[in-house]
Amino acid sequence: MQCRFLIYRFDPEKDAKPHYQTYTVEAEPTDKILDCLNRIRWEQDATLAYRASCAHGICGSDAMQINSHICLACQKLVRDFTTGGNFVIEPLPLFRVIKDLVVDLEPFFEKYRAVRPYLITDEPPPDKERLQDPEEQKTIEPALRCILCASCTAACPINRADPEYLGPAALLRAFRYIYDSRDSARPGRLADLDNESGAWGCKTMRWCTEVCPKGIPVTRCITQIKQAIKQI
Ligand code: SF4
Ligand code: FES
Repeated sequence: MQCRFLIYRFDPEKDAKPHYQTYTVEAEPTDKILDCLNRIRWEQDATLAYRASCAHGICGSDAMQINSHICLACQKLVRDFTTGGNFVIEPLPLFRVIKDLVVDLEPFFEKYRAVRPYLITDEPPPDKERLQDPEEQKTIEPALRCILCASCTAACPINRADPEYLGPAALLRAFRYIYDSRDSARPGRLADLDNESGAWGCKTMRWCTEVCPKGIPVTRCITQIKQAIKQI
C-alpha cells in the first residue's frame, strides 16, 4: 500500500523554525514504522535524522510521536494505525530538538544519574556474586525491563509543568534499588525522594504507564516508593 508520511523537520543550524515534509512510501501492512523511515532515509532523503539501533524494542533509541502517540518506531506496524496509511511523525515532546526527530536526552539522563542508579552496599565483595532471594527479585523485576527510552518522562504532564521533577523513569530506577534487599542505601534513597521533586511529585496520572513500551507498571512502582517513605 502507498503510505504518506508527514515528518517534522528542523535543523537549528539552517532553519528559522520547524516545518513538516511529506514523503510517500510503498509499504506492507506488516512493515514497521521504522522500516518506512529507513526507506525514506536510504532511498529518498539522506538528510532525515532520527535515532534507531536494535529495531527490536531493546535499545530504546527510537521513541517518537506517531500520529500523536508516544511509542517506539520499531514496535509499531503500519497496520497498527487506522489512519488509512497516513502518518504524522514528530519528535518526543518535552525535550529540545537537536535535529528532526533527534532530541537532547541529557536532562533525562542527568535525572537518572541523580538517583544513584547502582547498587550501594556496606558488605564486602563476595567470592562470586551477590545472591538475591527469587521472591524479592520478583518485586523489582518490572523495573529491570526498563530500556530508558524516555517515553514515560516525555508523556508525563508533571514533567512538562515542573522541570525539577525527577520523572517516572528516574523514580522507577530508584524503586529498583529501594526494593533490592542487597542495597544498603535505602534510608538515604527514600529521604532523597521525600519531596515534590521526588516521589510526591507524581500525581498518579498514569500517562507513563500507558505509554511504556515494555508494559512496566511505572505508576504502581512510584506508589510503592511513597508507601516505603510513609513507613520510615
Ligand atoms: S519505564 Fe518504560 S517508558 Fe519509561 S524509560 Fe523505561 S521503558 Fe521507557
Ligand atoms: S530501535 Fe531499538 S528500541 Fe527501537
